[in-house]
Amino acid sequence: MNEDDVSFFRRGLLGWAARNPRPMPWKGEKDPYKIWLSEVILQQTRVEQGMPYYEKFVKAYPDARALAGAPEDEVLKMWEGLGYYSRARNLLNAARYIADERNGVFPDKYEDIRALKGVGDYTAAAIASFAFNLPYPVVDGNVYRVLSRYFALDAATDLSSSKKMFASLAGKLLHPEQPGAFNQAIMDFGALCCTPAQPDCGNCPLKQRCLALVKGSPADYPVRLKKNAKKERFFLYLVVRRGDKILIRKRAGRDIWNGLYEFPFIETTSAGELTETDIRAIFPGEVPAGISPGEPSGFYRQTLTHREITAVFRELIVPDDIHGEYLGEGIFSGCIETDLAGLKKNFAFPAIISGFLKKII
Ligand code: ADE
Repeated sequence: MNEDDVSFFRRGLLGWAARNPRPMPWKGEKDPYKIWLSEVILQQTRVEQGMPYYEKFVKAYPDARALAGAPEDEVLKMWEGLGYYSRARNLLNAARYIADERNGVFPDKYEDIRALKGVGDYTAAAIASFAFNLPYPVVDGNVYRVLSRYFALDAATDLSSSKKMFASLAGKLLHPEQPGAFNQAIMDFGALCCTPAQPDCGNCPLKQRCLALVKGSPADYPVRLKKNAKKERFFLYLVVRRGDKILIRKRAGRDIWNGLYEFPFIETTSAGELTETDIRAIFPGEVPAGISPGEPSGFYRQTLTHREITAVFRELIVPDDIHGEYLGEGIFSGCIETDLAGLKKNFAFPAIISGFLKKII
């Protein structure tokens, strides 16, 4: 790659971006806090879906100190529907660090930005380049796609050795004076023109030198080693109702749903089946008289990065007088009671549970 190739690539991309403006609320934003917020939202969320959340967060928490002062349940509730909740927990954690340890001032050096919880190479480069015009290339799925096509690279993007190669290539191509504009341009170009399926090669500013197009196979890039194998899991949620109260509890395990609320549940070996063993897991002693499980709901599914979850919900109507006989034990330990209005307003649930709640409330 000589100087002429590099400047062709830069000019092509920046020219394309100037001709194809893509208005987004954080475009041209210089406040690193707001850029950080937008980039964390966009880590695993599409732009259209993320926009209203960005607006909502900026309004509720205009700066790091405001966010730092918010209770975790409130932030998780605001995040509800976006998924991958560790992002919200990390945002809060980092905001508290900025408020307490950095006097509320967002860091302005790449290493310090990268050290914030939940900020990886990609997000740090985006913040550093957009807010401070620092020369760090973003390397995300869009960049893999654009570069692997332009150079017809067969290196699998899910190998760590290739990641380094792509990062180094992106670093060489990055415009040294306009890193922010260049990074934004390559992302937008990847999202709108050099798309995963049916790329718009006719309108591509790089088409004269795109090696994948010369070979006639842009859609074959990027190359991946393995398909994303998913493990299937089945959850049976018990919707325990006593009068107008429902039992929920906060998840404590260090997993993606940590801090969210849920109904007590057991994991089953197939969807919706309730075996004798399952019943003993729910009620280690006798099944209290007067309780019987309702009909199973339909199937609710959620696909996560490594999991395919199928959930079934069953109501358990509990008479008032047997409250003390099982609450606080087994799968019911740590549960609290709330009415339907409180359930909806105050607690954030994983999408698979919200989907069910939308049907019943
Ligand atoms: N995806 C992640 N960050 C983005 C940004 N700043 N613009 C467009 N898409 C993005």
